[in-house]
Amino acid sequence: MRRRCDQALCLNSNNHLPCGHITGRRLDEDRSSGFARRIGYNPVQVLKYFTAGESHGEALVAYLSGVPAGLEVSLEFVNRELWRRQQGYGRGGRMKLERDQAQVLSGVRHGKTIASPIALLLQNRDWENWRERLPVEHGDPALHKRVASPRPGHADLAGALKYNFPEARYVLERASARETAARVAIGALAKLLLRELGIEVLSHVVAVGKARVNAEIPWEDIQASCARQEVLLNCADPQLEGEMKAEVERVLRTGDSVGGVFEVVAHNVPPGLGSYAQWDERLDAQLAAALMSLQAVKAVEIGAGVTAAYCPGSEVHDEIAYQGSAGFTRFSRSHNNAGGIEGGVSNGQEIRVRGYLKPISTLRRPLASVDFETREPVKAAYERSDVCVVPAAGVAGEAMVALTLARLALEKFGGDSMSETCRNFNGYLEQLREY
Ligand SMILES: Cc1cc2nc3c(=O)[nH]c(=O)nc-3n(C[C@H](O)[C@H](O)[C@H](O)COP(=O)(O)O)c2cc1C
Repeated sequence: MRRRCDQALCLNSNNHLPCGHITGRRLDEDRSSGFARRIGYNPVQVLKYFTAGESHGEALVAYLSGVPAGLEVSLEFVNRELWRRQQGYGRGGRMKLERDQAQVLSGVRHGKTIASPIALLLQNRDWENWRERLPVEHGDPALHKRVASPRPGHADLAGALKYNFPEARYVLERASARETAARVAIGALAKLLLRELGIEVLSHVVAVGKARVNAEIPWEDIQASCARQEVLLNCADPQLEGEMKAEVERVLRTGDSVGGVFEVVAHNVPPGLGSYAQWDERLDAQLAAALMSLQAVKAVEIGAGVTAAYCPGSEVHDEIAYQGSAGFTRFSRSHNNAGGIEGGVSNGQEIRVRGYLKPISTLRRPLASVDFETREPVKAAYERSDVCVVPAAGVAGEAMVALTLARLALEKFGGDSMSETCRNFNGYLEQLREY
């Protein structure tokens, strides 16, 4: 049976579900995914992504499946995002060593996506120095570079115990945040898709150590900060950025490390992404998981989430008015303490989500550890390391937020081609305007 979707102006003739705009699937798939959804497991994801690769291996690979056909792909944009991830005061020697560049292996032809899975390759320029130490074949064991004592704060000990490795080299190789470069590459494609819907995603740094921004930074200032050709700490307030730099200088002097907070802002997101219908469909839950999956992120805050916990409701909740001025709708808000999400659904305000980073775990003045072989107390192993990565983590955070929003947008608007996605999206905007 072919049934037309209830959604105003939706032209999906093959959409059998009464809502959701999911296109291009067979009826039995829709039924089984509907059942799976009810039991809290959704195996049919609209946008799928994986990464592979080790820190000192030959290359990183990123895979992104489910992008509609006809999305214009700018490799220049992807490479600029990769460059942004490598910037920031307090990065280690590796950032000077290599400039990441993405190579498209599949899924893009004549500058546009063709709806087949996209595979991207990022060469590790350091591989030449590691080819013999980390060979794919057995190689010469004498050349192996052990991580002899696990570093507190890293996956070294937990990973060695879990996988039954005698030391932590293989653990470090995959647990390392080098992997975020692959996420940034596919995140850039998600950003390009969102741009077609008028949505932009950027980040800025709100704290490094004890130096912190206390006011809400306007979108235009974040844009200006991200457009800079020289990145210090990607803080939109120059005076505070100076204080942040001093925090980094202090730990550089003392052989210590520092953490901080970045904020990702998604601008121009329409109301209606995510759902309160099931626990795992909530937008805030999905964004929290996406950001928490980044190395060193230990807490996530949506809007004024943390301070709101200490304030009365009258000071927190964003009062509603009906103004007549045109946004997505004519409803407006006094402020945006909710960070653009209420009840697990985007509400049409800017989405503001923060990632809290613990200080970098590798210290030039190493902490106490134990030798894997002798079990004697020793200092933790040291590998070349960053001392502050908050701006870079923000760029990786942008990628995770963009991938999450792109997936939810495709779940809501469907489309096998970008023209179909945009047509469905515009129909929904029309519905919002008429509300
Ligand atoms: C962009 C980025 C770069 C990082 N670079 C380093 C680094 O150079 N040295 C280091 O010790 N940790 C670095 N980290 C943090 C570690 O990868 C992370 O703390 C470690 O893998 C343990 O994982 P967990 O903190 O999530 O538990 C970085 C994190 C990010 C997001």
